Amino acid sequence: MAIISTCTTSTLKDAATSLRSGNLVAFPTETVYGLGADASNHGAIVKLYEAKGRPKDHPLIVHLSSIANLDKWAREIPEYAIKLARVFWPGPMTLILPRTNLAKDFISGSQDSVGIRVPSHPLAAVLLKEFEDQGGLGVAAPSANRFGKVSPTTADAVFEELSGYLSPTDLILDGGPCEVGVESTIINCIQDVPEILRPGAITLDLILDKTGVLVKENNETSMQEKVRAPGLLESHYAPNATVFLMGNPKSGDGLIALDSYLTPSGVLRLASPKNNQEYARQLYQALRLADTNGIERVFVIPPTGRDIALAINDRLKRCTQRLPPLRK
Ligand code: TXA
Ligand code: MG
Repeated sequence: MAIISTCTTSTLKDAATSLRSGNLVAFPTETVYGLGADASNHGAIVKLYEAKGRPKDHPLIVHLSSIANLDKWAREIPEYAIKLARVFWPGPMTLILPRTNLAKDFISGSQDSVGIRVPSHPLAAVLLKEFEDQGGLGVAAPSANRFGKVSPTTADAVFEELSGYLSPTDLILDGGPCEVGVESTIINCIQDVPEILRPGAITLDLILDKTGVLVKENNETSMQEKVRAPGLLESHYAPNATVFLMGNPKSGDGLIALDSYLTPSGVLRLASPKNNQEYARQLYQALRLADTNGIERVFVIPPTGRDIALAINDRLKRCTQRLPPLRK
């Protein structure tokens, strides 16, 4: 597999052609890097699941270049969902909607719904547009990590995660570090009242403020009954190191905290973000740094607030949990 470090219109065109031929292409989005495959090509999706080591019945998000193609993939779209899409796309938000026949069982994990997102990263936008111009309908892209591991926020991290699992014809597009750093907000739109399934940069307060739509908070118990969302069910987003959200680091341990927090002597400071946005941007890279340094225990002082701090706390909680898998 090749890493394309300078992406031009022409290399993106070639990458789109490669996707259309059934290859996998890892690409940057504003949240995290995704591992893309043609969402209409069963063979390519089988390869995608194998590269990620992901159980086959866990659904994928379909990425589109604009809202224009939404009704090809989704039907009975509630008015509130159209409002959300108009305001927050392109951007770090995924909508779960009733699926059309285009969203096959191999995309939706045989559920009646499909996840759709229009990313804003300029490189992703050009790639998706080019893919559609070449006759493609949508690009399925989970985060470009092995199942259960930390999402990559740089092309190097994608290489570390997946180089052993990609074919020589697959590609990794380097678009620099991701701006947001944690995965998109997922909103369940298959019921009368929308519900946040996975918090992200688009928060409940922001949604209410910009659209007047009141979204329910994530209710994990009801979610586990309703949908298979691996990020919600099992230990996820986890580094090899054990992550502690309380207690004090000792010499040889790692520490992630806002920069106002001092580093005790002998402790490896993995990140010192200045605010919550920077915290989100640096979190996954800091967890990776712990692993590359062979650190066994990472102490994290979680950020507070109702902004992206909610998403950071959600991921931190998941990387400290070791729940048994429900269904595979
Ligand atoms: O920011 C993101 O969303 C990134 C970038 C690459 O777009 N993608 C991403 O995909 O995080 P993935 O597959 O790693 O996580 C998507 C989550 C999974 O937990 C999946 O089960 C859930 O979304 N999901 C997808 N389709 C669903 C559906 N129809 N119903 C419920 N959950 C769904
Ligand atoms: Mg993921």
